[in-house]
Amino acid sequence: MHFATKTIHAGQPSEPNTGAVVAPIFQTTTYQQEGPGEHKGFDYTRTSNPTRKRLEAVLAELEGGTKCAVFGSGLAAENAILQAYLKPGDTIVVPVDVYGGTFRLLHKVFEPLGAIVERVDFSDLDALKRAVAVGPKLVWLESPTNPRLLVYDIEAVARIAHSAGALVVVDNTFATPYFQQPLSLGADLVIQSVTKYLAGHLDVIQGAVIAKDEKIFEPVGFLQNALGGVPSPFDCWLTLRGIKTLELRMERHAQNASAIAEALLAHPRVKRVYYPGLASHPGHEVAKKQMTGFGGMVSFELDGTLEEASAFVSSLTYFALGESLGGVRSLVCLPCKMTHASIPAETRAELGLSDTLIRLSPGVEHPRDLVGDVLAGLERLEHGGTSAASAVSKAPCGEPVLQ
Ligand SMILES: Cc1ncc(COP(=O)(O)O)c(C=O)c1O
Repeated sequence: MHFATKTIHAGQPSEPNTGAVVAPIFQTTTYQQEGPGEHKGFDYTRTSNPTRKRLEAVLAELEGGTKCAVFGSGLAAENAILQAYLKPGDTIVVPVDVYGGTFRLLHKVFEPLGAIVERVDFSDLDALKRAVAVGPKLVWLESPTNPRLLVYDIEAVARIAHSAGALVVVDNTFATPYFQQPLSLGADLVIQSVTKYLAGHLDVIQGAVIAKDEKIFEPVGFLQNALGGVPSPFDCWLTLRGIKTLELRMERHAQNASAIAEALLAHPRVKRVYYPGLASHPGHEVAKKQMTGFGGMVSFELDGTLEEASAFVSSLTYFALGESLGGVRSLVCLPCKMTHASIPAETRAELGLSDTLIRLSPGVEHPRDLVGDVLAGLERLEHGGTSAASAVSKAPCGEPVLQ
């Protein structure tokens, strides 16, 4: 079955009782039993629910895994993996530029509980080999990364991690299973912030864990029920609906991102463009090897001041200034003041997250409208036209904001 066919058919037969081609939302907390303990496989919705089960079946198939558990957010999904596999005294190795929410979860929640967090540059495989010498329980990475879209070699990382006996977790949120299949590249577990491209319509917060095999999945499945961070049946239904167009949306997102990246490259007010599809991107060759497309996100560094970057992101017509990404409507964000504000300023500087780094999440609007919007925003800077936002943004980046 091809990917697009799976998004519509995997785990989603017509509803057997009525023939409805779209199964209803099983908006119920509990299920009538025929006798004590005698039921049709469902007893309480925290434990299992038919709508959630359909979603878990399709996500497992799309990622090429055996089992999936969905959660009330991407971070709840991450928490379940960490609780399952990271005990006091255990080490986790993560890239230096791991997503801000993961950084906060590790340093503010798991480190105080006794976990050891080692941050390494994953583009330096020798440094990674040295780091795994301590025998970590987990090696965790994203690729492409948020927001600089760096690309790490998943197959090489998995080989090194496995040689030290670690499990490999890949956050596949940016690529989605349409463009990248980490389990086939050697990962043991995939996490998804379903909130982003999978749900795709900016109306659902959700996460998922997909495991290569049942044994690795088992403790995560147990914790889905024991911790209880499950999504509502309605949210699962919305995601099932969103996923049906995943392939179509991802193709358009990537087309838009690529067109914007090319336009930015040629602009004098742009210092640097981050898009894995550009031949000049340091991870381009690895991206070509492990991805079937370069994804829908593009970031760039403005040649200017924080004030100008704030004015630019606040002035666009089709890109709403907001957190999140991966939706049908375009979004823009200034990471130093928004998504990555919880990372201390000095750490951000080390990571190359400058105050004028701008992240664009092109939606599925027409490419010419989006390119025109971005170029018009840059043009306004050239001619000194700023919005009221420039006054707001005089404060330095970096007050820790916990979103
Ligand atoms: C790469 C990545 N992983 C995980 C998350 C967390 O997901 P959620 O916001 O659904 O908890 C995000 C959120 O922005 C993300 O960008």
